[in-house]
Amino acid sequence: MSKKTIKMGIFGGYRGSYFYKCVLANNAEIVAVCDFNEKYANKAKEMLGDDVAVYTAFDDFIEHEGLDAVLLSNYFHEHAPYAIRLLERGIHVLSECTANATMAEGVALVRAAEKSSAIYMLSENYPFMAFNQEMRRVYRGGSLGKVLYAEGEYNHPLDHTDAEYAIELCPTSKHWRYNLPRTYYITHSLAPLMYITGAMPKRVTAMPVYAPIQSDFNGISRGVPERAAILTTLNDDDSVFRVTGCADFGGREDSYRVCAEKGQIENLRDGTGRVLLNYNKWDLPENVSCATSYYLPLLKDKDDALAKKAGHGGGDFYVIREFLNCIRENRRPEFDVYFGTTMASVAILGHRSMLENGVPYDIPDFRREEDRVKYENDNLSPFYGTDGTEPTIAATNRPDYWQSAEGRAEYDRMVSLRKKSQY
Ligand SMILES: NC(=O)c1ccc[n+]([C@@H]2O[C@H](COP(=O)([O-])OP(=O)(O)OC[C@H]3O[C@@H](n4cnc5c(N)ncnc54)[C@H](O)[C@@H]3O)[C@@H](O)[C@H]2O)c1
Repeated sequence: MSKKTIKMGIFGGYRGSYFYKCVLANNAEIVAVCDFNEKYANKAKEMLGDDVAVYTAFDDFIEHEGLDAVLLSNYFHEHAPYAIRLLERGIHVLSECTANATMAEGVALVRAAEKSSAIYMLSENYPFMAFNQEMRRVYRGGSLGKVLYAEGEYNHPLDHTDAEYAIELCPTSKHWRYNLPRTYYITHSLAPLMYITGAMPKRVTAMPVYAPIQSDFNGISRGVPERAAILTTLNDDDSVFRVTGCADFGGREDSYRVCAEKGQIENLRDGTGRVLLNYNKWDLPENVSCATSYYLPLLKDKDDALAKKAGHGGGDFYVIREFLNCIRENRRPEFDVYFGTTMASVAILGHRSMLENGVPYDIPDFRREEDRVKYENDNLSPFYGTDGTEPTIAATNRPDYWQSAEGRAEYDRMVSLRKKSQY
């Protein structure tokens, strides 16, 4: 194991700032932060001290001397091009979700990661929540048998009356959150199921849940009238998953359920963090006397106390620890480029399925050249680019709703009025 202190850079200082303490607690250094919004660049100095170098342009940031690794926490749909440039320089990449926003980017990212001496990891934190770690421990222990069916829900409604927070999250009608199709933010529902069971999606189909939010301000997916997309995947082990993208059902919750041959395990929706483990009474493992048990998983992790202080149920801490340990031990992360791009393919092709009212799409295996060639020029995107590029595919199953120039202008006008009234 290398003893050298890893020097990290953070690209994108809003979400990025949530990781500062986690990086330091894992004995790495943050040497540079880049954000073109000076507010977040200055926040980095406040939180990390004057020694941290602060940049507003990626081209200068990447030149920072001695950069070993970078966390990409810039816009959701613009990670892959930066990841590729870093990998080409041999700089390790920890990328926030999503790995890639177009199929062509997924192909390019896999090719760059295969050529690079550096490690690529997706910064997916939900699998590291205590109940998901426990479900993996039990499932991998074998007592439940093989997975048949699993469910993952990432249900994240926001208070639509909280205009200030909505504007912070979604400052213009061209921001990715405004235009986020409901299938795209897939990792928080799907990754835990893949992590628990090891299954990889091979086919996807998706249905829209049409229910426009009648409110001026909602910080996520304001430009689309769907509240959720319900995706079904058929997997490489013949199991089936049913997952949401980023859903907006009433009542915030993240829930996961794995149904296997001999029983089921799920996290309870009562906010306690407990799991329910339920066996067939004729399939009880040795030393288990009761078919049904409810319990709070007790993680026996040496860093449990540190993780408790971090966001997303400790997930933010464990994701950083895993990335840094992979670098130190020169080990491939489980959330590698194939894991990341497979989930992005489920999101992107699931969206196309939803646009076509549920037509199934095969998920490519980007380990295979035939599958890469098929998608290497597929640049369809529902997002506006920072460089001014326009969307090339509808973000919603009902393109006439909210996407009009008038609807966008109205949002931007309301945002600017709100901002002015604050001064
Ligand atoms: N895993 C999680 O639990 C979780 C939680 C929140 C956000 N995220 C992810 O983090 C990423 C960032 O989201 P966010 O909440 O910070 O909102 P955001 O996308 O609005 O913020 C991105 C930040 O990056 C900066 N930025 C973007 N492009 C840049 C560029 N080319 N040069 C310099 N700076 C640039 C912006 O100024 C902004 O401060 C997204 O991918 C999002 O999905 C993940």
